[in-house]
Amino acid sequence: MIFTDEQGQFDAIIEAEEKIEPRDWMPEKYRLNLVRQMSQHAHSEVVGQLPEGNWIGRAPTLRRKAILLSKVQDEAGHGLYLYSAAETLGVSREEMMNDLLIGKAKYASIFNYPTLTWADVGAIGWLVDGAAIVNQISLCRTSYGPYARAMVKICKEESFHMRQGYEIMQVLACGSAAQKAMAQDALNRWWWPTLMMFGPHDSESANSQQSMKWKIKRQSNDELRQKFVDQTVKQADHLGLAIPDQDLKWNEERGHYDFGPIDWEEFARVVKGGGLCNDARLEARRTANDEGQWVKDALMSYAEKHSKSDVDQVA
Ligand code: 3HC
Repeated sequence: MIFTDEQGQFDAIIEAEEKIEPRDWMPEKYRLNLVRQMSQHAHSEVVGQLPEGNWIGRAPTLRRKAILLSKVQDEAGHGLYLYSAAETLGVSREEMMNDLLIGKAKYASIFNYPTLTWADVGAIGWLVDGAAIVNQISLCRTSYGPYARAMVKICKEESFHMRQGYEIMQVLACGSAAQKAMAQDALNRWWWPTLMMFGPHDSESANSQQSMKWKIKRQSNDELRQKFVDQTVKQADHLGLAIPDQDLKWNEERGHYDFGPIDWEEFARVVKGGGLCNDARLEARRTANDEGQWVKDALMSYAEKHSKSDVDQVA
């Protein structure tokens, strides 16, 4: 197909379910939308290390500690893939990091909740990573090539994250009465903030309509949330734990679970910085950035020196 205009070429690639690559022409708003979503996704991965990182030094056994270390380390790698994929859109790592550190860029609200007991580590793996998988499997089909490819590898690792979390919950739910109560308490505290991870209702979503047109988003917020609820209720039943929603009920006609109203005021408060841990999360990122500056400086000067000497050798 020959196109006289770049827009026609772009539209045809989207229509044909092919991928837009960094070298392709793309509408500026498409690029900016991707920079927004991908950088916030990357921030979420990196900030998401903090709640669980809180338990690495307090894991109940060496085996649990090793598993948790590996998981938290994976999240850093996910952030790396996503920052690198976002850089193909012409935005620098510094810019993205600065937007996070000054509080301009968002990250997933779920990471502003405290991890009070070891069961929270299980609930995060089972619920938060479980929700992330539902969202990220859909994103494997996103129209931007580097983003879609980053998702494929991330999803493989998320499956391990979700299983290790579910296994923690299983051990606790089958343990002593106190352990089962700890697991139930964690489910009670993480259930509703996890449903918020999928974003506002479709009717309130500022970006969904255009993101769906551009096939950045392949399924809507509500569609993915419903998919997560439908699959997770059975898992909770298997654990013998109760989902903290008195309106949760199977709807034969819809073929889905009906569930209760989400507290969007809490969601908006947390997204705007009013959550229990927002300040601590940003403080931790700012400290890491400041204390890690010498590593960046050393790497940059090494790179400059070696790339210069390489040029001298060739010349
Ligand atoms: N936390 C914080 N902000 C949120 C949010 C949440 N859970 N859900 C939505 N928002 C924000 C959006 O960013 C948007 O604000 P912006 O325009 O300033 O960016 C606003 O609320 C309206 O939401 P929309 O539905 O219009 O926004 P999107 O179309 O971008 O949809 C999304 C929101 C579904 C989160 C989408 O951005 C997305 O799929 N992002 C990629 C996945 C992602 O970021 N997941 C975060 C968790 S990563 C994770 O869990 C790691 C795992 O390993 C633990």
